[in-house]
Amino acid sequence: MGDFRRSVVYQIYVRSFFDTDGDGVGDLRGVTAKLDYLHELGVDYLWLTPFFRSPQRDGGYDVADYRAIDPLYGSMDDFDELVAEAGRRGIGIMLDMVFNHTSTDHEWFRRALAGEEKYRDYYFFREGKPDGGAPTNWQSKFGGSAWEYVPQLGMYYLHLFDRTQADLNWENPEVRRELCDVVRFWMGRGVKGFRFDVVNLISKGAFEDDPDPDGDGRMFYTDGPRVHEFLRELNRESFGRDPEIVTVGEMSSTSMENCFLYAGEDSGELSMVFSFHHLKVDFVGNEKWVIVPTDFARLKSLLFGWQKGMAEHGAWNAVFWCNHDQPRVVSRFGDEGEYWRESAKMLAAVIHGLRGTPYIYQGEEIGMTNAGFTRLDQYRDVESLNHFKILRDRGLNEESVYNILKVHSRDNGRTPVQWDGGKNGGFTAGEPWIEVNPNSRIINAKTQLRDSGSVFSFYRELVRLRKRYDVFAYGDFEPLTPEHPHVIAYRRCWNGETLYCINNFFRAETVWRCPEGERLDGCRVLLSNYPSVQPACEWTLRPYESAILLKC
Ligand code: GLC
Repeated sequence: MGDFRRSVVYQIYVRSFFDTDGDGVGDLRGVTAKLDYLHELGVDYLWLTPFFRSPQRDGGYDVADYRAIDPLYGSMDDFDELVAEAGRRGIGIMLDMVFNHTSTDHEWFRRALAGEEKYRDYYFFREGKPDGGAPTNWQSKFGGSAWEYVPQLGMYYLHLFDRTQADLNWENPEVRRELCDVVRFWMGRGVKGFRFDVVNLISKGAFEDDPDPDGDGRMFYTDGPRVHEFLRELNRESFGRDPEIVTVGEMSSTSMENCFLYAGEDSGELSMVFSFHHLKVDFVGNEKWVIVPTDFARLKSLLFGWQKGMAEHGAWNAVFWCNHDQPRVVSRFGDEGEYWRESAKMLAAVIHGLRGTPYIYQGEEIGMTNAGFTRLDQYRDVESLNHFKILRDRGLNEESVYNILKVHSRDNGRTPVQWDGGKNGGFTAGEPWIEVNPNSRIINAKTQLRDSGSVFSFYRELVRLRKRYDVFAYGDFEPLTPEHPHVIAYRRCWNGETLYCINNFFRAETVWRCPEGERLDGCRVLLSNYPSVQPACEWTLRPYESAILLKC
């Protein structure tokens, strides 16, 4: 813990992490049970996805009570024990605050429906258009209209996500005060950080139709008119009172200019941001339900552009490939076959060498792969299930829809952590809520812990290097050979240390020539994914070869 620039965060999707009571769902005690493992990996913070009371329509991102723990995940005692045990190992707990919306089961929403004026103003209830249709043409991010009609009130309410996730009205100072109280409540229980879910959507602008026929309304509420003011207030009134608290905002379709403020050193908003542009390089625009090859040139220019831009403005990135909404990176940009190990390590090196705080998503450190589901009844995610229907209605045949889900479904990242090669990958003694990947016999934490060449050992080394060499945390960022069609290479400098991170992103060998003025001789290999590495100014990189070099 301490300086977040020197820290590494590990994300836990509690539901799929480790189940201690045999009900097939991961729980808080499961996190406590695995703290030694996490300590061994060396991470500083654990970001836990929401475990608050919830009907679980969207994996807990539909919160019914921000201060209560869903019995599915345990009790407040379990939580307090986790905070204490983690603290003993120097690990801080970060909570996931879903403040853009609540579940329609939340007491506020129920009272709104029951006709209490005060609570109606906690949400966006609006009359329909003169013809009775929805107030605007905005689309929910999970498919369908973003407005749901409530017959007993004769009005619609806004939901940018599922219809059971009603958007909160941040224009109302009472709402903002309530949410500050929630943050303070958890600070009082020893929490060391917060992740704020889709927090750049909290300030809605005008409720007008999106003029773009392909638009979904996002132009009216993304990085909305009062978002910076709201964040500064939240900071001032809650977490900003403790300088040790680390915060990260999830920014949906944001712009870099806004992130200079969200995560600027002196802007009084958040410590850092997640942006997602580099993870849309296998989409068509914002449409993810398609299969197209990865645009490597774009991936690289986005990564490099954000690195340079954020550094120039003194703003801080969270750097990552994976989370509970993304497919597994080794399946997505690496190789599930012959070069599984090399590619998983290369992808890790690319991220951990960047300027920013690296996030490791559970199972990434052992190279877990996509789910490989082939039937609809294997899927659980509301977004995937909705889109199955939407894509079928658009006329796609079943096979094509299955192929798309297989690549893009959020369930790819949600199958249980593979702890050992036994039944259910050692995740549960019961029936898992979602199927365990059968490759747990081969890919699992137990075998990797005792193998110094494993993906796990590589991640552990990356975390150690960050603690050991300040250049990882504080170095500047300079892209090298930005036009190279296969290689991601960059240089970082700080206080007499120079670090090079050089990666062949592909399966084929490739020649990389180091740019004029750079000298790799005299560099020490800090880490690589092949046993013997020969840095050279004209370097033939093997499949997915990766090396981190240091010159002091
Ligand atoms: C964020 C979460 C995602 C959730 C959505 C709505 O994107 O990461 O899992 O579905 O917000 O809360």
